[in-house]
Amino acid sequence: MSQLNQRHILVAISGGIAAYKGAELVRLLKKQGAVVRVVLSRGATEFITPLTLQALSGEPTHTELLDEAAEAGMGHIELARWADLMIIAPATADVLARLAQGRADDLLTTVALATPAPVAVAPAMNQQMWSHAATQENVQLLASRNIQIIGPDAGEQACGDVGPGRLLEPDGIVAALNQRFENRQLEGKRVIITAGPTLEAIDPVRYLSNHSSGKMGYALAGACAAAGAQVALISGPVQLAPPDRVSMHPVTSAEEMCAAALSLAEGADLFIGAAAVADYRPESPASTKLKKQSGGPLTLTLVENPDIIAQVTQLPNRPALVAGFAAETTSVLVHAREKRVRKGLDMIIANDVADPQTTFGSEQNAVHLITEAGERSLPLASKRVIAEQIISALAAQLPH
Ligand code: CTP
Repeated sequence: MSQLNQRHILVAISGGIAAYKGAELVRLLKKQGAVVRVVLSRGATEFITPLTLQALSGEPTHTELLDEAAEAGMGHIELARWADLMIIAPATADVLARLAQGRADDLLTTVALATPAPVAVAPAMNQQMWSHAATQENVQLLASRNIQIIGPDAGEQACGDVGPGRLLEPDGIVAALNQRFENRQLEGKRVIITAGPTLEAIDPVRYLSNHSSGKMGYALAGACAAAGAQVALISGPVQLAPPDRVSMHPVTSAEEMCAAALSLAEGADLFIGAAAVADYRPESPASTKLKKQSGGPLTLTLVENPDIIAQVTQLPNRPALVAGFAAETTSVLVHAREKRVRKGLDMIIANDVADPQTTFGSEQNAVHLITEAGERSLPLASKRVIAEQIISALAAQLPH
């Protein structure tokens, strides 16, 4: 699957003759499954219409910084926050100069300054303008600020010149963006992840469970596979498609999840307990459907389930790193710190499930990473982005 699938890509088109290729770029990004929004500079609207890009992206095109209607919908700050990546293509010499100076005098440059997302530029201009010392210095400055420079290509130019400065073809830009999300941080590592809820049978038709959707665990498994790991995902019953390149181990109860985890975790590089394991199970599930007993309460006796992650940390050949989650509703950090120590974890990832934005089943999350060495907060972002940040933090702790 494309690394761009479901990513929020903000395509910003500035006013050069290559602006028309922005349409093809948007089309190719959509084909890869990306969710695309377009910002057009005023100059770009002379070369290509907002309507064309709206039709291709399926989203309104943004052109003005101070436009009442636009600001009432998705304003420039929301747009900047929405993006997982911003690509400016074509980026004219003027746009490169304004980005280098940190100007914010139109929508395009303002969003580029306001976005926390990575920014890439695909320059396109006359070869003489590209070779000019001013442009070259601007490009170097942008590169030193971690802005990805894609292209330019060399060859015949619209003005008749021949040389470097042509916009890289849209398929080349898409390939470069795809690669940006690929990384080899977990190359050759073996990772085991538990995800989803467990179901504890009361009788053949009823069970005890919880609201876990499995989304965070599945996002972690996908991010580990994209980072080059060999991933086993032990999953309780969820409504999610298995991530690509991940070996699935479906289970139902905590005891089954525990058995699978203990047999797979031995000698692994990384174990992540993202499952919401039921702490208790009915002591003796009925073998036939329980019948209603009118007139009185029903008493179920529950016994404790094994603590899977705590047992994994006790394995003779335990994984090099063990990370767990603490989904809490009160005193999130206090409970999480205590849980990390009690369960012998290298990292605990704390999240507040009382907050509707980060509760069970939501598409986004905001977490705190707690290790022996310190604590770090990851602000609200899609579960995919949060998963990638967690994986980067864990990969940095793994012995090489
Ligand atoms: N966990 C586990 N096995 C269990 C319970 C929890 O592996 N039987 C793991 C979860 O996957 C998670 C971490 O332990 O990574 C914390 O889970 P949580 O339910 O918050 O911890 P509990 O020990 O159940 O604490 P609480 O008293 O808050 O329920």
